[in-house]
Amino acid sequence: MNYFQRMKEKFEKLRHQKDVIILSVESSCDETSVAIVKNGREVLSNIIASQIEIHRRFGGVVPEVASRNHIMAISNIFDEALDKAKITKEQIDAVAVTYGAGLVGALLVGVNFAKALAYQLDIPLIAVNHVHGHIAANYISHLQLKPPFVCLMVSGGHTAILEIKEYEDFKLLGTTVDDAVGEAFDKVARVLELPYPGGPEIDKLSKEGKNVYNFTISNSLKDTFNFSFSGIKTAVVNFVHNHEQKGDSLSKADIACSFQEHVTDELSDKAIRACRYVGQNKLVVAGGVGANSRLKEKLKAKCEENAIEFFAPVLQFCTDNAAMIASAAYYMMKNGLGLADLDLTGKPNVEL
Ligand code: KG4
Ligand code: ZN
Repeated sequence: MNYFQRMKEKFEKLRHQKDVIILSVESSCDETSVAIVKNGREVLSNIIASQIEIHRRFGGVVPEVASRNHIMAISNIFDEALDKAKITKEQIDAVAVTYGAGLVGALLVGVNFAKALAYQLDIPLIAVNHVHGHIAANYISHLQLKPPFVCLMVSGGHTAILEIKEYEDFKLLGTTVDDAVGEAFDKVARVLELPYPGGPEIDKLSKEGKNVYNFTISNSLKDTFNFSFSGIKTAVVNFVHNHEQKGDSLSKADIACSFQEHVTDELSDKAIRACRYVGQNKLVVAGGVGANSRLKEKLKAKCEENAIEFFAPVLQFCTDNAAMIASAAYYMMKNGLGLADLDLTGKPNVEL
């Protein structure tokens, strides 16, 4: 029997096995992470080596630098994940890895590490879409949470509203027609000369500011679940440049706060409307921008007004981490999905 045939048989057996331990690898951007998760929900370890400090001096992620640092970190992170979980390699049932979307050189480090490990241990390899991982971050944060629900997916690379009908049955209700919301946060932060990554800095600074500038979001998409953030981003950038040229002094906190208020109104209004549209009384936020304190405040309040239950991942699972990838892989495996062969490679863009 050839290698992949043997893996198919092992994968099929896993679907019916009582306890399944998955080791997962995440390296799509600037976090190197390895986690070990039992039965999709019990996080035995989740080790994250962040490169934020390294990229900060460049004002953003430098892909080549990210790949090199993943290579340097991954073996140690793997050892640490096993130590922390107090298990041996031989107890792992499957290896999961983010294969996309992300920086292709960065993804390749994780994918090649995962392939070599799965091959050495002779266990199945599961290829996970990063966005599915962000959704699953809620399963490890809220052990009772199960589909169906509506998901507001907000990260540096994605902005979407999804109807999650079943663990692996998603329907896209709306998406961004231009920039991802995290990209807009980072760009606005950059023009305000705040350190990378900009999202958390805007969140912090906004608390000292007032919503005094009317940076509008075009209402051409108001009857849809789609988003557009490039207009408001450009409006802020032009506003700052115009005032700088005139030598005016500006309140960065007021600009940050005004931008954040408009963006979080747009996201929270459409998410609630989507719940009403599909008749769903559970709303889940996912992705790095889901860490935004104002967004969570608004979602929570609007959910309460509309008798909708609201869920957000705990902070450590909100931004990139491997535990969420193992959780997504578990539910993929239960549905017979995601088994990969040794020709798996990193993909910069993947469909939801
Ligand atoms: O999900 P994530 O870690 O990586 C991607 O898959 O893209 O998201 C990163 C994005 C960045 O744009 C970062 O600025 C943003 O999430 N972010 C935030 C906050 N924390 C992270 N944006 C707004 N407020 C925050 N507190
Ligand atoms: Zn992410």
